[in-house]
Amino acid sequence: MANTAGSGGATPEQLSVVDRIAEGLAGVRGALIPMLQEVQAEIGYLPMAVMERISERSGVPAARVFGVASFYSQFRLEPVGRYVIRVCQGTACHVQGAVAVAEAICDELGVAEGGTTEDGKFTVESVACLGCCSLAPVMMVDEDTYGRLTPEQARDIVKNYGIARDEGGAKA
Ligand code: FES
Repeated sequence: MANTAGSGGATPEQLSVVDRIAEGLAGVRGALIPMLQEVQAEIGYLPMAVMERISERSGVPAARVFGVASFYSQFRLEPVGRYVIRVCQGTACHVQGAVAVAEAICDELGVAEGGTTEDGKFTVESVACLGCCSLAPVMMVDEDTYGRLTPEQARDIVKNYGIARDEGGAKA
């Protein structure tokens, strides 16, 4: 049943997600990237065992599956937090103080850029242009966009996510 293997392992449920998606894309040429995208959308990331299953089901050599998954930054090879914070470090955001925004968020959450908080709640990532440069500096929390941020505003937003999702939880 539940497989508590490390980030490289996979649960039977995760493997059956791969089987289902692979079936849907059977016979489609160039389906590797869509398959990786769909699997990640359901599982949240791409554990090693899942990529091996993708290789088996798609017939694409495992080395190529790993290569593609590691090459594109959209793919995650490690589990992510319940909320993914993407802090834009594109040029427009960079010149408007994005580094200080990212530092404030990481400081608030006690996590390094690219990392996930110990409670598994937040992952903080630096990304290239999010496509709304006029709002620089910008960050997204999952699908919600926040622009013209100061470091303090970014801290407050992150704090509010923690409080709202805790239902009266630990953070003051
Ligand atoms: S550079 Fe940040 S949104 Fe474009």
